[in-house]
Amino acid sequence: MQEKFFPFDNEISDEAPAGRLMDKPETDEDIVLNISLRPVALEEFIGQKDVVDNLKVSLTAAKQRNDPLEHVLLCGPPGLGKTCLATIIAHEMGTKITSTSGPAIERAGDLIGILTNLEKGDILFIDEIHRLSKVVEEFLYPAMENCQIDFVIDKGPYARTIKFNLKRFTLVGATTRSGLIGSPLRSRFGIIHHFDFYSVDDLGSIIKRSAGLLNIRIDDDGAHEISRRSRGTPRIANRLLRRVRDYAQVKGNNEITKESASHALTALGIDSEGLDGIDRRVLKTIISHYQGGPVGIETLAATLNEESDTIMDTIEPYLLKAGFLKRTSRGREVTHLAYQHLGIPGAPSK
Ligand SMILES: Nc1ncnc2c1ncn2[C@@H]1O[C@H](COP(=O)(O)OP(=O)(O)O)[C@@H](O)[C@H]1O
Ligand SMILES: [Mg+2]
Repeated sequence: MQEKFFPFDNEISDEAPAGRLMDKPETDEDIVLNISLRPVALEEFIGQKDVVDNLKVSLTAAKQRNDPLEHVLLCGPPGLGKTCLATIIAHEMGTKITSTSGPAIERAGDLIGILTNLEKGDILFIDEIHRLSKVVEEFLYPAMENCQIDFVIDKGPYARTIKFNLKRFTLVGATTRSGLIGSPLRSRFGIIHHFDFYSVDDLGSIIKRSAGLLNIRIDDDGAHEISRRSRGTPRIANRLLRRVRDYAQVKGNNEITKESASHALTALGIDSEGLDGIDRRVLKTIISHYQGGPVGIETLAATLNEESDTIMDTIEPYLLKAGFLKRTSRGREVTHLAYQHLGIPGAPSK
């Protein structure tokens, strides 16, 4: 008897291996591959046309004047290319980038060494900038505004404030929650860009570029199938590409086609709309426990045994964008589309 190439059925399990795609910690392999797949120049950055076009103008103008770029704030859900673009900005300006993140900076003092070592035009990248403590944030204001920092040395009666002049650097901040950036910080950024989920076409191009770099054979329909199911997110697209490659290698003839991609993704628990196990669990829980909602985010998080931040940062943005979830003043509510997609009858007639 001939063995079937894809011996699994098409049932989607919510407990499938890729049940939580966005939230899984990155493995060493992920990190190395992410770096190798990262576009280096702005020309290689696919999609986000508005952001890229505007940034090109800002970069060209700054370079013509021989000025550092104004401070840049990049907002958007995880995996859309914010860190990538920060590195590209440094590359395009021909300057050095120093990276840190909001939670990593515990005291204002942690920043003194970093700031005083920056040369003119260097980039200081602060990821998750919404998680800076108030004290550190306030310490940054004069640094951003007029390149000065004040720090106190000594204690008690000998305490003195020292002013230190910095070189004109560019702060690039990234955040998944622009709503948490207060106006004092926001107003100090000259350039603010919001990333949107990628179109299927743009993701298809990203997948083909990555496949080329990783020597993976994939046809157009195969790339389309993966991009359609990648939740508009390049990081997910790259991850799925590698998982599908494994399937094609073990079960198929090493080339990714629509068929092998579709089988592999289904086996990984990624459904036809690209939702993974946790996405479906969120929608199903709202339906089964709260008659479809509305339900407050904290209540929902407690029922799911998840952090509300995880739901807000990594799960719901795509569910909202794809029209499976609605946000109302009274909480989250699933839509008719979600009932339909999950095959659950009884969507309330609203
Ligand atoms: N526009 C793009 N073109 C090509 N690859 C991209 C693009 N945006 C992101 N990627 C890929 O997705 C991965 C995740 O992007 P990253 O910058 O880490 O996202 P974020 O910082 O927004 O969470 C990168 O390693 C890169 O390979
Ligand atoms: Mg990042």
